[in-house]
Formats: sequence, structure tokens, C-alpha cells
Amino acid sequence: MEYLVKSGKPEGQRTGCLVLGVFDKRRLSEAASQVDAASQGQLTAILGKGDMDGAAGQSLLLHGIPGVSAERVLLLGLGKEKELTERAYRQALQTMFRVLSASGARDVLCALGETAPKGRDRNWAIRDAVQQVETLLYRFDTCKSKKGNSLPNAKKITFLVPGTADVAPARDACKFGLATGRGMNLARELGDLPGNICTPVYLAEQAKKLGKRFKTLSVEALDEKAMEKLGMGSLLSVGHGSRQESRLIVMQYKGGGKNADTHVLVGKGITFDTGGISLKPGAAMDEMKFDMCGAASVFGTVQAVAELELPINLVGIVPSAENMPDGIATKPGDIITSMSGQTIEVLNTDAEGRLVLCDALTYAERFKPVSVVDIATLTGACIIALGHHKHGLMSNNTAVANKLLAAGKAAADEAWQLPLGEEYDEQLKSNFADMANIGGRSAGTITAAQFLARFTGKYKWAHLDIAGTAWKSGDQKGATGRPVPLLVQYLKDRAGA
Ligand code: BES
Ligand code: MN
Ligand code: ZN
Repeated sequence: MEYLVKSGKPEGQRTGCLVLGVFDKRRLSEAASQVDAASQGQLTAILGKGDMDGAAGQSLLLHGIPGVSAERVLLLGLGKEKELTERAYRQALQTMFRVLSASGARDVLCALGETAPKGRDRNWAIRDAVQQVETLLYRFDTCKSKKGNSLPNAKKITFLVPGTADVAPARDACKFGLATGRGMNLARELGDLPGNICTPVYLAEQAKKLGKRFKTLSVEALDEKAMEKLGMGSLLSVGHGSRQESRLIVMQYKGGGKNADTHVLVGKGITFDTGGISLKPGAAMDEMKFDMCGAASVFGTVQAVAELELPINLVGIVPSAENMPDGIATKPGDIITSMSGQTIEVLNTDAEGRLVLCDALTYAERFKPVSVVDIATLTGACIIALGHHKHGLMSNNTAVANKLLAAGKAAADEAWQLPLGEEYDEQLKSNFADMANIGGRSAGTITAAQFLARFTGKYKWAHLDIAGTAWKSGDQKGATGRPVPLLVQYLKDRAGA
């Protein structure tokens, strides 16, 4: 899809479909009123017949409205004007997409920029519309013999803004929304791919492909031998029972020059998590192919940052392994030595995410980062705490935590902070090694973060537990592409762009 911006009045524009907002009780938006006036009250007359009252989710597709150059006019219900929520706004965009998919309209002129949700401005509304449309276009048909369709005929959406001075910022908003949406779609594609295709080696190949697309991006993947040399005994212990080789993928984006700050993202890349010898129950185990969604969000964010050419340096690190039971798999009670030198008693082989992350977090030290954010589908306990709506956030630094919380709000991809503390750290005590890899039943999300905190003393660090937000189950089963919007926003804010 192509996204454009144009200034002017809605009634005089040639387009396949002009999209206008209508509020509750048939209150017309500004652009809709202008069209109403140009058509001598046609919209008011049609609405007066009772086909639509403006409730959120409603729509009405009209043909042949006199006095306007558009072939069609699509009215979208937005609910109460004073309480226009982001959900209602996004619902309207979804409805628009559905109507356009069943329509012959070849291009679209969208005036929804003026009906931004409460607390947001026009450019936010445009950016979110682009991101929504772009992600609605996503289909996972890589593994289907018949490719799906039901996509809009339109290949072009133009956003209408009032004045010429409004055009440039709206174009930036389009660019930002498009890069974010495309980053989400990349994350979703990798997440949705099955474990027999999306292996650690496959992820490393995809990273190298990404590296070839941008001059600013260089990619390397450490194999098991290279990781052994670095002493990554913890990461390597996870893939021990698998026929799939483990990889440490390192993507370096240099967009900021020598003196620019470096930020690091570390994404959990378990391409399938059976639990290992501490085997998971069979129900819904297929969903453990999504256990690399943290890694996928790093891919998506790196791509978006490179497309936007943000003036920062960014390193994306993906520790990737497959967690399988086997004759030589790591077993409960085994003691391993991490790259940091700290020893770990593996009391549960299903707590493997922290084992791959800790060595990647030690590796991150060499980049002298201003901030390190890890992203992981780390604990089922996080789903119990926060459900499927907000990411769990834990951090050793208040400023970084607040920046991530603010970025989540700005991008409508929110996180919620949970505490860290000595008393939680004590739950990781082991009689046989420096620490155990589990901290008991209580506060499972926090003790997992507490484990990671033992490897992040040298820099400002935050951890996003995305166990509840990275994918959907049921008939909508599939990766969500979250938290790419939060991460791209965070890095854009840090770049001062
Ligand atoms: N990948 C899982 C966490 C998970 C489970 C995410 C279900 C989303 C849905 C992780 O590796 C895991 O198994 N964690 C264990 C930790 C426990 C053994 C301390 C868990 O949450 O049960
Ligand atoms: Mn596990
Ligand atoms: Zn896992």
C-alpha cells in the first residue's frame, strides 16, 4: 500500500472512496459537514433515515453523492465525540479496511486525521491509521498452497489535511507508521513460522538477509564453537538436547556516527520450547513456536530503525536455541557456568529463556551501551499478572523504565512496571551453585527478572516480559508484532528525532 498526504477540501477531490467520520447521534465531523454542505444536505438526509447513528464500528457506503468528486463516500461511526477512544478509532479503521476489501474502489481519500482520539493529535491519528492498515494487510500464507485474498483493491490511501503547512509533518507520520507496521509484520511472519522452519540457523540467515538490505546494518552470527570460546555455557546448555545448532545473532545498525549513543536490544530466540527434560504438558504446546517472539521484535525494530534512518547506533542481539529433551539434554540439578563466570544450578529446564538471555546480556557489555532492553516471552506468571494487554516491565534504572513506559503510551503499546528487590533476589538461592534458575512459585515474573539482573550490573537495563502480549491464541492464533511499536517509539525518542 502507498500512503500519501494532500491538503485541501474534501468535496473537490477525485477519489474512488472518500472516508469520513460520523460521531454518535449523527454528529458530522468537520470534513463530513463540508461534504454535507456541498451536497445540499445529502448526508444529513440519508442519516436521518436511520441507517446509521454514528456508534463505534458502524459504517455506511454511499454512491453518487451529488456535489462531490468522489465516486463513493464511506461514513464510519466513531461513537461519542467527547470520548473518542483509541479503541473506537482503531475499530473504525478496521471497519474501513473490511469495507474497502469488498469494494471496487481503486484509491482512497481518508479524512480521519481530523478525528484523532482524545489526547492525540492529527499526526498521531495518521501514523496510527497507516500502522493499522499495514498490519491489517498481513496474511500468513507462506505455508498455504492456496494464497489468500480478500485484500482491498485500493493500492493508495491519501490522508487529507487542512493546510499546506500540515503536509510535511503528516508525511513524517505516514513514514513512521509505515516503518512500524512493516516492522510488526516482519516480527509476525517470523513468529508465525513453525519451529521446523524457523530454527536458530534460519533466524541467523534472515538476519543476514536484513543486513544485505541496508548499508547501515552489519550482521554476524556466532556458531556453537564461537560461543564455546566465549564461555557461553549457559546459552549452550539450552540447545544441548536439540539437533538444531544454536546461534548468537548480532545485528549492528550504525546510523549515528562515532559519537552517537549506542542502545542494545536483546531478544529471546527459543525457536521451540518443549520445556526440555522438565517437559511441558501437551495441551497448546504448538504455541511454544512463538517462544522466539522477543527475537522477532528485535528483527522488526532493527528493520524499522534502519528504514527510518534514525540517528543512533543500535545493536540487536538474539540468543537462539531450541529447547528439547534428549539423552544428552541438560537435566534438573545440572550446574552450568555462564559467560560472566557465575554458576547456575538448573532446577527446571523449562526456565530456559533466562539461560540464553544471561550470556547475551554479558555479551552486550562490549558495546558500552547507554541502555539495554531485553524482550522475552519469559514467564507464564506474567500472563497471570497482566493478562494479554500490557507487557511486564522491570528495570534497574528509573529513567529508562519511565522512558519505556512513556514510549508504550505514545505508541498505544503499553507496558506496566513490576518491582525488583533484594527480597525477591533471595528466592534464587542455591545450595550447590551461585544461583538456581528458578525462584519458586511466588512472583515468578519478578524472580525471572531478578535472575537477569545478576548479569546487568554494568549498564542501565530494562526487561520486557511479553509472554501475554506477543501472540494471540484461539481462532485468531498468531503473532501480534508487539512490542515493536513501543521499541521503535523508544528509540526514536532516544534519538531525539
Ligand atoms: N516460554 C515459557 C514461558 C511462557 C509460557 C510464555 C506460556 C507464554 C506462555 C518459558 O520458557 C517457561 O517455560 N517459563 C516457565 C518458568 C518456570 C519453570 C519457572 C513458566 O512460566 O512456567
Ligand atoms: Mn520454558
Ligand atoms: Zn521459553
